[in-house]
Amino acid sequence: MKTSYEREQEIYKEKTPQSEQTYEMAKQYMPGGDTRTIAFFQPYPPTIERAEGAYLFDLDGNKYIDFVNNYTSMIHGHAHPYIVEKVREALPLGTAYAASIPEQTTLAKILCERIPSMQKVRFCNSGTEATMFAIRAARAFTKKTAIIKMEGGYHGTHDLVEYSTKPLITEKSHQDPWKPIPDCAGLSENVAKDIFIAPFNNARAVEEILLQKQDEVAAILVEPVMGVAGVIAPEPGFLEQLRKLANQYHVLLIFDEVQTLRLSTGGAQKKFGVIPDLTAIAKIIGGGFPIGAFGGKDDIMKGFDPYQEHAIPHGGTFNGNKMSMVAGIAAMELLTENVIQCMKKLSELLELKINEAIQKNEIPVSISRVGSMLNLHFTEKVPTNYAETANQYGDLMKVLHLKMINNGIFIAPRGMMNLSTVMTAEDIESTATAFSKAFEEIAELFEKVN
Ligand SMILES: Cc1ncc(COP(=O)(O)O)c(C=O)c1O
Repeated sequence: MKTSYEREQEIYKEKTPQSEQTYEMAKQYMPGGDTRTIAFFQPYPPTIERAEGAYLFDLDGNKYIDFVNNYTSMIHGHAHPYIVEKVREALPLGTAYAASIPEQTTLAKILCERIPSMQKVRFCNSGTEATMFAIRAARAFTKKTAIIKMEGGYHGTHDLVEYSTKPLITEKSHQDPWKPIPDCAGLSENVAKDIFIAPFNNARAVEEILLQKQDEVAAILVEPVMGVAGVIAPEPGFLEQLRKLANQYHVLLIFDEVQTLRLSTGGAQKKFGVIPDLTAIAKIIGGGFPIGAFGGKDDIMKGFDPYQEHAIPHGGTFNGNKMSMVAGIAAMELLTENVIQCMKKLSELLELKINEAIQKNEIPVSISRVGSMLNLHFTEKVPTNYAETANQYGDLMKVLHLKMINNGIFIAPRGMMNLSTVMTAEDIESTATAFSKAFEEIAELFEKVN
Protein backbone atom coordinates (compact mmCIF):
# COMPACT_ATOMS: atom_id res chain seq x y z
CA MET A 1 0.00 0.00 0.00
CA LYS A 2 1.21 3.48 -0.83
CA THR A 3 2.19 5.75 2.03
CA SER A 4 0.57 9.16 2.33
CA TYR A 5 3.92 10.70 1.40
CA GLU A 6 4.05 8.67 -1.81
CA ARG A 7 0.46 9.63 -2.63
CA GLU A 8 1.26 13.32 -2.11
CA GLN A 9 4.30 12.97 -4.39
CA GLU A 10 2.08 11.49 -7.10
CA ILE A 11 -0.33 14.43 -6.90
CA TYR A 12 2.61 16.80 -7.12
CA LYS A 13 4.02 15.01 -10.17
CA GLU A 14 0.66 15.18 -11.93
CA LYS A 15 0.62 18.94 -11.39
CA THR A 16 4.20 19.57 -12.49
CA PRO A 17 5.16 17.49 -15.59
CA GLN A 18 7.09 20.35 -17.24
CA SER A 19 9.05 20.99 -14.06
CA GLU A 20 9.91 17.30 -13.91
CA GLN A 21 11.13 17.30 -17.49
CA THR A 22 13.28 20.37 -16.90
CA TYR A 23 14.66 18.90 -13.73
CA GLU A 24 15.60 15.66 -15.50
CA MET A 25 17.67 17.77 -17.88
CA ALA A 26 19.30 19.56 -14.95
CA LYS A 27 20.42 16.21 -13.58
CA GLN A 28 22.65 15.72 -16.61
CA TYR A 29 24.83 18.66 -15.63
CA MET A 30 24.46 19.20 -11.90
CA PRO A 31 24.62 16.37 -9.33
CA GLY A 32 21.00 15.57 -8.57
CA GLY A 33 20.04 18.55 -10.74
CA ASP A 34 20.63 20.77 -7.74
CA THR A 35 22.91 23.67 -6.96
CA ARG A 36 21.62 24.63 -3.52
CA THR A 37 20.84 22.02 -0.88
CA ILE A 38 18.05 23.98 0.73
CA ALA A 39 16.17 24.53 -2.55
CA PHE A 40 15.82 20.80 -3.18
CA PHE A 41 13.02 18.55 -2.05
CA GLN A 42 11.67 15.17 -3.19
CA PRO A 43 10.63 14.30 -5.84
CA TYR A 44 12.07 17.53 -7.40
CA PRO A 45 11.47 21.25 -6.82
CA PRO A 46 9.18 23.12 -9.23
CA THR A 47 10.87 25.06 -12.02
CA ILE A 48 9.89 28.68 -11.56
CA GLU A 49 9.16 30.74 -14.65
CA ARG A 50 8.53 34.07 -12.97
CA ALA A 51 7.69 35.71 -9.68
CA GLU A 52 5.73 38.83 -8.92
CA GLY A 53 4.76 40.33 -5.59
CA ALA A 54 3.81 37.57 -3.17
CA TYR A 55 3.50 34.91 -5.86
CA LEU A 56 5.60 32.37 -7.73
CA PHE A 57 4.53 30.89 -11.08
CA ASP A 58 6.02 27.62 -12.27
CA LEU A 59 6.49 26.30 -15.82
CA ASP A 60 3.36 24.23 -15.42
CA GLY A 61 1.16 27.27 -14.81
CA ASN A 62 0.79 26.67 -11.05
CA LYS A 63 0.65 29.74 -8.83
CA TYR A 64 2.01 29.66 -5.29
CA ILE A 65 1.77 32.16 -2.44
CA ASP A 66 5.45 32.42 -1.51
CA PHE A 67 6.10 31.98 2.22
CA VAL A 68 9.73 31.01 1.66
CA ASN A 69 10.73 34.32 0.09
CA ASN A 70 14.10 32.91 -0.89
CA TYR A 71 14.64 31.92 2.73
CA THR A 72 13.64 35.27 4.25
CA SER A 73 15.56 37.48 1.83
CA MET A 74 12.71 38.78 -0.39
CA ILE A 75 11.10 40.94 2.27
CA HIS A 76 9.26 43.05 -0.32
CA GLY A 77 8.19 40.05 -2.39
CA HIS A 78 9.35 39.63 -5.97
CA ALA A 79 10.10 42.27 -8.60
CA HIS A 80 8.97 45.14 -6.38
CA PRO A 81 8.32 48.05 -8.79
CA TYR A 82 10.44 50.55 -6.79
CA ILE A 83 13.44 48.20 -6.62
CA VAL A 84 13.06 47.26 -10.29
CA GLU A 85 13.00 50.96 -11.24
CA LYS A 86 16.19 51.74 -9.26
CA VAL A 87 18.04 48.73 -10.69
CA ARG A 88 16.89 49.56 -14.21
CA GLU A 89 18.25 53.11 -13.85
CA ALA A 90 21.60 51.83 -12.56
CA LEU A 91 22.17 48.84 -14.86
CA PRO A 92 23.42 50.73 -17.95
CA LEU A 93 26.06 52.45 -15.81
CA GLY A 94 27.93 49.21 -15.28
CA THR A 95 27.58 46.69 -12.48
CA ALA A 96 30.89 46.27 -10.65
CA TYR A 97 34.15 48.20 -10.58
CA ALA A 98 37.27 47.88 -8.46
CA ALA A 99 36.86 51.34 -7.00
CA SER A 100 34.59 53.21 -4.63
CA ILE A 101 30.97 54.14 -5.47
CA PRO A 102 28.67 56.55 -3.61
CA GLU A 103 26.01 53.86 -3.15
CA GLN A 104 28.33 51.90 -0.86
CA THR A 105 28.46 54.82 1.51
CA THR A 106 24.70 55.39 1.28
CA LEU A 107 23.89 51.79 2.23
CA ALA A 108 26.62 51.73 4.90
CA LYS A 109 25.15 54.92 6.42
CA ILE A 110 21.62 53.49 6.41
CA LEU A 111 22.80 50.32 8.15
CA CYS A 112 24.96 52.12 10.73
CA GLU A 113 22.11 54.49 11.55
CA ARG A 114 19.59 51.67 11.92
CA ILE A 115 21.49 48.87 13.66
CA PRO A 116 22.47 49.83 17.22
CA SER A 117 25.76 47.85 17.37
CA MET A 118 27.00 48.95 13.96
CA GLN A 119 29.44 51.84 14.19
CA LYS A 120 31.29 50.62 11.12
CA VAL A 121 30.37 48.08 8.45
CA ARG A 122 31.95 46.25 5.50
CA PHE A 123 30.18 44.49 2.65
CA CYS A 124 30.63 40.97 1.34
CA ASN A 125 28.51 38.67 -0.83
CA SER A 126 26.69 36.28 1.49
CA GLY A 127 25.73 35.54 5.05
CA THR A 128 28.43 32.86 5.07
CA GLU A 129 31.11 35.46 4.42
CA ALA A 130 29.52 37.81 6.92
CA THR A 131 29.79 35.33 9.81
CA MET A 132 33.25 34.23 8.66
CA PHE A 133 34.57 37.79 8.73
CA ALA A 134 32.80 38.65 11.97
CA ILE A 135 34.55 35.68 13.58
CA ARG A 136 37.86 36.72 12.05
CA ALA A 137 37.40 40.24 13.41
CA ALA A 138 36.68 38.82 16.86
CA ARG A 139 39.74 36.60 16.73
CA ALA A 140 42.00 39.41 15.60
CA PHE A 141 40.68 41.71 18.34
CA THR A 142 40.79 39.22 21.23
CA LYS A 143 43.84 37.30 20.01
CA LYS A 144 41.96 34.08 20.83
CA THR A 145 40.58 31.53 18.35
CA ALA A 146 37.64 29.47 19.65
CA ILE A 147 33.94 30.23 19.44
CA ILE A 148 30.93 29.11 21.40
CA LYS A 149 28.04 28.29 19.10
CA MET A 150 24.54 27.05 19.81
CA GLU A 151 23.40 23.51 19.06
CA GLY A 152 21.29 23.76 15.89
CA GLY A 153 22.64 27.26 15.13
CA TYR A 154 23.11 27.86 11.39
CA HIS A 155 25.64 30.45 10.26
CA GLY A 156 26.43 29.48 6.67
CA THR A 157 28.80 27.04 5.03
CA HIS A 158 32.37 27.76 6.14
CA ASP A 159 34.05 24.94 8.06
CA LEU A 160 33.99 26.51 11.51
CA VAL A 161 30.22 26.84 11.62
CA GLU A 162 29.17 23.63 9.81
CA TYR A 163 29.27 21.76 13.10
CA SER A 164 26.23 20.74 15.17
CA THR A 165 23.74 22.56 12.98
CA LYS A 166 21.55 19.45 12.74
CA PRO A 167 23.08 16.76 14.95
CA LEU A 168 21.15 13.57 15.46
CA ILE A 169 19.64 13.72 18.92
CA THR A 170 19.82 10.42 20.72
CA GLU A 171 19.97 9.46 24.37
CA LYS A 172 23.74 9.24 24.05
CA SER A 173 24.32 12.40 22.05
CA HIS A 174 24.48 14.73 25.02
CA GLN A 175 27.01 12.76 27.04
CA ASP A 176 29.73 15.13 25.90
CA PRO A 177 27.58 18.26 25.50
CA TRP A 178 30.28 20.69 24.35
CA LYS A 179 31.54 18.44 21.57
CA PRO A 180 30.84 19.72 18.04
CA ILE A 181 29.37 17.17 15.62
CA PRO A 182 30.40 17.65 11.95
CA ASP A 183 27.40 18.14 9.65
CA CYS A 184 28.91 16.32 6.70
CA ALA A 185 31.99 14.77 5.16
CA GLY A 186 34.68 17.11 3.90
CA LEU A 187 35.10 19.32 6.96
CA SER A 188 38.48 19.72 8.58
CA GLU A 189 38.57 17.81 11.86
CA ASN A 190 41.24 20.20 13.10
CA VAL A 191 38.68 22.98 13.15
CA ALA A 192 36.56 21.15 15.74
CA LYS A 193 38.95 22.05 18.55
CA ASP A 194 37.97 25.70 18.10
CA ILE A 195 34.24 25.14 18.67
CA PHE A 196 32.28 24.60 21.84
CA ILE A 197 28.58 23.82 21.65
CA ALA A 198 25.90 25.00 24.06
CA PRO A 199 22.11 24.61 23.90
CA PHE A 200 20.15 27.76 23.02
CA ASN A 201 18.33 29.37 25.96
CA ASN A 202 20.84 27.90 28.42
CA ALA A 203 23.15 30.63 29.69
CA ARG A 204 24.42 28.35 32.43
CA ALA A 205 25.85 25.95 29.81
CA VAL A 206 27.60 28.89 28.13
CA GLU A 207 29.06 29.98 31.48
CA GLU A 208 30.32 26.46 32.21
CA ILE A 209 32.29 26.56 28.98
CA LEU A 210 33.63 30.03 29.73
CA LEU A 211 34.65 29.07 33.26
CA GLN A 212 37.06 26.52 31.80
CA LYS A 213 37.86 27.92 28.36
CA GLN A 214 37.79 31.70 28.59
CA ASP A 215 41.44 31.89 27.57
CA GLU A 216 40.60 30.15 24.28
CA VAL A 217 37.21 31.65 23.44
CA ALA A 218 37.14 34.73 21.20
CA ALA A 219 33.38 35.04 20.85
CA ILE A 220 29.91 33.73 21.54
CA LEU A 221 28.16 33.42 18.18
CA VAL A 222 24.38 33.33 18.35
CA GLU A 223 21.27 33.99 16.28
CA PRO A 224 19.11 36.12 18.60
CA VAL A 225 16.16 34.08 17.31
CA MET A 226 17.21 30.69 15.94
CA GLY A 227 16.11 30.59 12.30
CA VAL A 228 17.00 27.34 10.55
CA ALA A 229 16.56 25.37 13.79
CA GLY A 230 12.87 26.34 13.73
CA VAL A 231 12.25 30.00 14.65
CA ILE A 232 13.09 29.50 18.31
CA ALA A 233 12.63 32.61 20.44
CA PRO A 234 15.06 33.64 23.16
CA GLU A 235 13.55 33.22 26.61
CA PRO A 236 13.36 36.46 28.60
CA GLY A 237 16.80 37.28 29.95
CA PHE A 238 18.79 34.83 27.79
CA LEU A 239 20.33 37.38 25.44
CA GLU A 240 20.95 39.76 28.35
CA GLN A 241 22.77 36.96 30.17
CA LEU A 242 24.94 36.28 27.14
CA ARG A 243 25.82 39.99 27.03
CA LYS A 244 26.76 39.88 30.72
CA LEU A 245 28.83 36.72 30.33
CA ALA A 246 30.68 38.13 27.33
CA ASN A 247 31.66 41.19 29.39
CA GLN A 248 32.55 39.17 32.46
CA TYR A 249 34.78 36.66 30.63
CA HIS A 250 36.30 39.11 28.11
CA VAL A 251 34.89 37.52 25.00
CA LEU A 252 32.94 39.22 22.23
CA LEU A 253 29.26 38.73 21.54
CA ILE A 254 28.41 38.22 17.86
CA PHE A 255 24.79 38.32 16.74
CA ASP A 256 24.06 36.56 13.47
CA GLU A 257 21.16 38.69 12.25
CA VAL A 258 21.16 37.32 8.72
CA GLN A 259 17.50 36.35 9.21
CA THR A 260 16.45 38.43 12.21
CA LEU A 261 17.24 41.86 10.81
CA ARG A 262 13.65 41.81 9.53
CA LEU A 263 12.27 41.93 13.10
CA SER A 264 12.67 45.71 13.42
CA THR A 265 14.42 48.48 11.53
CA GLY A 266 17.46 47.70 13.69
CA GLY A 267 17.02 43.93 13.85
CA ALA A 268 16.58 41.68 16.88
CA GLN A 269 19.14 43.70 18.83
CA LYS A 270 16.89 46.75 18.68
CA LYS A 271 13.76 44.69 19.35
CA PHE A 272 15.22 42.95 22.42
CA GLY A 273 17.46 45.82 23.54
CA VAL A 274 20.67 43.75 23.72
CA ILE A 275 23.63 45.17 21.84
CA PRO A 276 26.33 42.78 20.59
CA ASP A 277 29.92 43.73 19.76
CA LEU A 278 29.66 42.49 16.18
CA THR A 279 26.76 41.73 13.87
CA ALA A 280 26.53 39.66 10.68
CA ILE A 281 23.73 40.51 8.23
CA ALA A 282 22.75 39.56 4.66
CA LYS A 283 19.59 38.61 2.74
CA ILE A 284 17.13 41.57 3.01
CA ILE A 285 19.84 44.24 2.77
CA GLY A 286 20.47 43.31 -0.88
CA GLY A 287 16.93 43.95 -2.17
CA GLY A 288 16.99 40.55 -3.90
CA PHE A 289 20.65 40.59 -4.99
CA PRO A 290 23.56 38.68 -3.39
CA ILE A 291 24.97 40.44 -0.36
CA GLY A 292 26.37 40.13 3.13
CA ALA A 293 27.79 42.61 5.62
CA PHE A 294 29.45 42.56 9.00
CA GLY A 295 30.07 45.37 11.39
CA GLY A 296 30.26 46.54 14.94
CA LYS A 297 32.29 48.61 17.31
CA ASP A 298 34.72 51.04 15.82
CA ASP A 299 37.74 49.70 17.68
CA ILE A 300 37.06 46.14 16.50
CA MET A 301 36.31 47.07 12.89
CA LYS A 302 39.44 49.27 12.82
CA GLY A 303 41.32 46.03 12.22
CA PHE A 304 40.20 46.23 8.56
CA ASP A 305 41.26 49.88 8.05
CA PRO A 306 43.64 49.83 5.06
CA TYR A 307 45.46 52.93 6.35
CA GLN A 308 46.70 50.77 9.22
CA GLU A 309 49.80 48.68 9.04
CA HIS A 310 48.96 44.94 9.02
CA ALA A 311 45.27 45.54 8.34
CA ILE A 312 43.18 42.37 8.05
CA PRO A 313 42.72 41.72 4.33
CA HIS A 314 39.12 41.50 3.19
CA GLY A 315 38.75 40.22 -0.36
CA GLY A 316 35.64 39.66 -2.44
CA THR A 317 35.42 40.49 -6.16
CA PHE A 318 31.82 41.62 -5.93
CA ASN A 319 31.93 43.27 -2.48
CA GLY A 320 29.85 46.44 -2.61
CA ASN A 321 28.86 45.92 -6.27
CA LYS A 322 26.51 48.50 -7.73
CA MET A 323 23.46 46.23 -8.23
CA SER A 324 23.41 44.92 -4.67
CA MET A 325 23.99 48.41 -3.27
CA VAL A 326 21.27 50.10 -5.36
CA ALA A 327 18.70 47.38 -4.72
CA GLY A 328 19.70 47.24 -1.05
CA ILE A 329 19.21 50.97 -0.56
CA ALA A 330 15.77 50.77 -2.19
CA ALA A 331 14.79 47.78 -0.03
CA MET A 332 15.88 49.56 3.15
CA GLU A 333 14.00 52.73 2.16
CA LEU A 334 10.84 50.67 1.75
CA LEU A 335 11.33 48.89 5.08
CA THR A 336 9.87 51.32 7.58
CA GLU A 337 8.80 50.43 11.12
CA ASN A 338 5.23 50.83 9.92
CA VAL A 339 5.45 48.11 7.25
CA ILE A 340 7.28 45.83 9.68
CA GLN A 341 4.35 46.24 12.11
CA CYS A 342 1.84 45.48 9.32
CA MET A 343 3.73 42.28 8.47
CA LYS A 344 3.73 41.36 12.15
CA LYS A 345 -0.04 41.86 12.41
CA LEU A 346 -0.66 39.60 9.40
CA SER A 347 1.74 37.03 10.89
CA GLU A 348 -0.21 37.09 14.18
CA LEU A 349 -3.40 36.49 12.21
CA LEU A 350 -1.82 33.55 10.37
CA GLU A 351 -0.54 32.08 13.64
CA LEU A 352 -4.00 32.42 15.19
CA LYS A 353 -5.73 30.73 12.26
CA ILE A 354 -3.19 27.90 12.12
CA ASN A 355 -3.56 27.34 15.87
CA GLU A 356 -7.36 27.19 15.46
CA ALA A 357 -6.97 24.51 12.79
CA ILE A 358 -4.51 22.57 15.00
CA GLN A 359 -6.90 22.64 17.95
CA LYS A 360 -9.92 21.72 15.86
CA ASN A 361 -8.15 18.64 14.54
CA GLU A 362 -6.48 17.74 17.86
CA ILE A 363 -3.09 16.99 16.29
CA PRO A 364 0.32 17.29 18.01
CA VAL A 365 1.48 20.30 16.01
CA SER A 366 2.80 23.58 17.39
CA ILE A 367 3.73 26.83 15.73
CA SER A 368 6.50 29.17 16.79
CA ARG A 369 6.47 32.79 15.70
CA VAL A 370 8.62 35.85 16.22
CA GLY A 371 7.53 38.90 14.23
CA SER A 372 7.12 37.82 10.60
CA MET A 373 9.04 34.53 11.02
CA LEU A 374 7.07 31.34 11.71
CA ASN A 375 7.76 27.61 11.93
CA LEU A 376 5.52 24.59 12.28
CA HIS A 377 6.64 21.69 14.46
CA PHE A 378 5.26 18.21 14.97
CA THR A 379 5.63 18.68 18.72
CA GLU A 380 3.03 19.21 21.45
CA LYS A 381 4.83 22.28 22.80
CA VAL A 382 6.65 25.11 21.07
CA PRO A 383 10.36 24.17 21.23
CA THR A 384 12.80 26.27 23.24
CA ASN A 385 15.98 24.74 21.82
CA TYR A 386 17.16 22.54 18.95
CA ALA A 387 16.97 19.24 20.83
CA GLU A 388 13.27 19.80 21.48
CA THR A 389 12.58 20.08 17.72
CA ALA A 390 14.32 16.85 16.79
CA ASN A 391 12.88 13.39 16.05
CA GLN A 392 9.45 14.58 14.93
CA TYR A 393 6.92 11.97 13.70
CA GLY A 394 8.83 10.56 10.71
CA ASP A 395 7.63 11.77 7.33
CA LEU A 396 4.72 13.90 8.56
CA MET A 397 6.46 17.22 7.97
CA LYS A 398 7.26 16.11 4.42
CA VAL A 399 3.59 15.15 3.91
CA LEU A 400 2.41 18.51 5.23
CA HIS A 401 4.93 20.34 3.06
CA LEU A 402 3.79 18.64 -0.16
CA LYS A 403 0.13 19.02 0.76
CA MET A 404 0.68 22.78 1.08
CA ILE A 405 2.65 22.95 -2.18
CA ASN A 406 -0.10 20.95 -3.92
CA ASN A 407 -2.58 23.53 -2.65
CA GLY A 408 -0.57 26.49 -3.91
CA ILE A 409 1.15 27.48 -0.66
CA PHE A 410 4.94 27.54 -0.92
CA ILE A 411 6.41 26.78 2.51
CA ALA A 412 9.85 25.39 3.36
CA PRO A 413 10.22 21.60 3.73
CA ARG A 414 11.17 22.12 7.37
CA GLY A 415 7.89 23.97 8.07
CA MET A 416 9.37 27.46 7.99
CA MET A 417 7.32 30.41 6.72
CA ASN A 418 7.97 34.12 6.57
CA LEU A 419 5.94 37.02 5.31
CA SER A 420 6.72 39.74 2.82
CA THR A 421 5.50 43.33 2.99
CA VAL A 422 3.32 42.85 -0.11
CA MET A 423 1.16 40.08 1.34
CA THR A 424 -2.50 40.79 2.01
CA ALA A 425 -5.20 39.56 4.40
CA GLU A 426 -6.64 37.55 1.46
CA ASP A 427 -3.33 35.71 1.08
CA ILE A 428 -3.50 34.83 4.78
CA GLU A 429 -7.12 33.67 4.44
CA SER A 430 -6.31 31.34 1.51
CA THR A 431 -3.30 30.00 3.39
CA ALA A 432 -5.34 29.34 6.53
CA THR A 433 -7.94 27.46 4.44
CA ALA A 434 -5.21 25.28 2.90
CA PHE A 435 -3.77 24.52 6.37
CA SER A 436 -7.21 23.62 7.66
CA LYS A 437 -7.67 21.09 4.86
CA ALA A 438 -4.15 19.68 5.28
CA PHE A 439 -4.55 19.28 9.05
CA GLU A 440 -7.89 17.46 8.59
CA GLU A 441 -6.17 14.94 6.32
CA ILE A 442 -3.22 14.64 8.69
CA ALA A 443 -5.58 14.05 11.64
CA GLU A 444 -6.98 11.07 9.70
CA LEU A 445 -3.45 9.66 9.41
CA PHE A 446 -3.06 9.89 13.19
CA GLU A 447 -6.40 8.14 13.68
CA LYS A 448 -5.29 5.28 11.44
CA VAL A 449 -2.06 4.83 13.42
CA ASN A 450 -3.80 4.88 16.82
C1 LIG B 1 21.26 32.86 10.38
C2 LIG B 1 21.99 32.63 9.10
N1 LIG B 1 23.30 32.91 9.04
C3 LIG B 1 24.00 32.75 7.91
C4 LIG B 1 23.40 32.28 6.77
C5 LIG B 1 24.20 32.09 5.51
O1 LIG B 1 23.80 33.01 4.56
P1 LIG B 1 24.14 32.77 2.99
O2 LIG B 1 23.23 31.66 2.54
O3 LIG B 1 23.85 34.08 2.36
O4 LIG B 1 25.57 32.38 2.92
C6 LIG B 1 22.03 31.98 6.78
C7 LIG B 1 21.36 31.47 5.57
O5 LIG B 1 20.24 31.03 5.59
C8 LIG B 1 21.31 32.14 7.99
O6 LIG B 1 20.01 31.85 8.07
